[in-house]
Amino acid sequence: MSLHALAPATSAGPAFTALPPLSLYVHLPWCVRKCPYCDFNSYEARGPLADIEYVDAVLRDLRSELPNVQGRQVQTVFIGGGTPSLFSAAAIEHLLHGVAAELTLARGVEITLEANPGAVDAARFAAFRAAGVNRLSIGIQSLRDDQLRALGRVHDSREARRAVDLARTAGFTNINLDFMYALPNDDAAGALTDLEDAVDLAPAHLSWYQLTLEPNTAFERRPPPLPADSVVAEIESRGRELLAAAGFVRYEISAYSRPGHQCAHNLNYWQFGDYLGVGAGAHGKITLPARQAIERRAKTRNPRTYAETAGAPAACNAQRLAEPREIAVEFLLNALRVLEGVPQEWFVERTGLPLETIAAPRREAVQRGWLADEPGRLRATPEGREVLNRLLELFV
Ligand SMILES: C[S@@+](CC[C@H](N)C(=O)[O-])C[C@H]1O[C@@H](n2cnc3c(N)ncnc32)[C@H](O)[C@@H]1O
Ligand code: SF4
Repeated sequence: MSLHALAPATSAGPAFTALPPLSLYVHLPWCVRKCPYCDFNSYEARGPLADIEYVDAVLRDLRSELPNVQGRQVQTVFIGGGTPSLFSAAAIEHLLHGVAAELTLARGVEITLEANPGAVDAARFAAFRAAGVNRLSIGIQSLRDDQLRALGRVHDSREARRAVDLARTAGFTNINLDFMYALPNDDAAGALTDLEDAVDLAPAHLSWYQLTLEPNTAFERRPPPLPADSVVAEIESRGRELLAAAGFVRYEISAYSRPGHQCAHNLNYWQFGDYLGVGAGAHGKITLPARQAIERRAKTRNPRTYAETAGAPAACNAQRLAEPREIAVEFLLNALRVLEGVPQEWFVERTGLPLETIAAPRREAVQRGWLADEPGRLRATPEGREVLNRLLELFV
């Protein structure tokens, strides 16, 4: 029970005067091998992938979503997984052709594809680029071979570096690298060496995640020895300094970019924008002004069931977010991850609720030093980000 309750719901529900930007997420669920720490909806590919048939299912799924987004432009597309770089060039071309035929893509649309260094080659990268992909996100995790083995990765550090070279040769300049820290038996010196090596690869964007033990993973069942909290804190503070000195701006809890290279797709999630989610287990969030509702939509997780049923009502679980406090907390849960916060009008526009809904808990959070005392913006202070769950509890 929190100190403050939100103002009561109006019987009319949320009222929207504007629509937020719209993104598209496409989930491709296969990998060469399942990593022991990973709880994404991903499966080991056994035998040849039925990738064209899967894309046909994704496009059926997409067509079933169109009535909810008529007249709207798509600002970003993210092809994630799993390991999308396992898909053939023909399948990604088929996918992006289909997407462009069904949706209006904004000028300068950001189109990201995730790649694993163990599943890449030069011809495929060139074909992905020709098909319209203009941003690559490569999962590297570490450049230490012993760590890559401990993480069960299918590639070594040489292949990881080669993947970045291949991406550049194919003409990609907007490249993100995923790295993780606080790895098994990790220490600050090792983690910072990884980060220096990451910076030397000169990516436009770095996602630097703390390794977490997720439910239903091999690491949860047999946890590796992870570093103590004090070591993690040292890695984080020295790592952030190192990245800042190298010209990377931290703009979200785990996201760092060169100026002008923030990930527009992820920012749209954090800024409580709308997104269609297609593919096995994909999630979407859509504002439906005529119904005074925000709907969350989740697709069937099993790839085979998905391929058979995509586009049919049975393959989608839709849930309305109706409770003002649920909507407000979801907005803040996302927006307060962004270091510069968000304009407070976005709360009104994107939740459909008046600012009074959160006035009392907001005052309390400012008093505790967890929200910045900044008229016109909703922004967590560094202390507030450290205790984000407690901060959000004030609003529940
Ligand atoms: C879908 S994967 C990226 C592409 C590709 N599948 C790969 O792994 O090379 C998304 C990213 O989430 C991060 N990740 C996955 N599981 C994690 C965990 N348990 N803790 C922290 N980060 C994790 C990894 O950095 C990974 O690259
Ligand atoms: S390759 Fe990526 S998506 Fe696949 S299991 Fe490993 S971390 Fe998860």
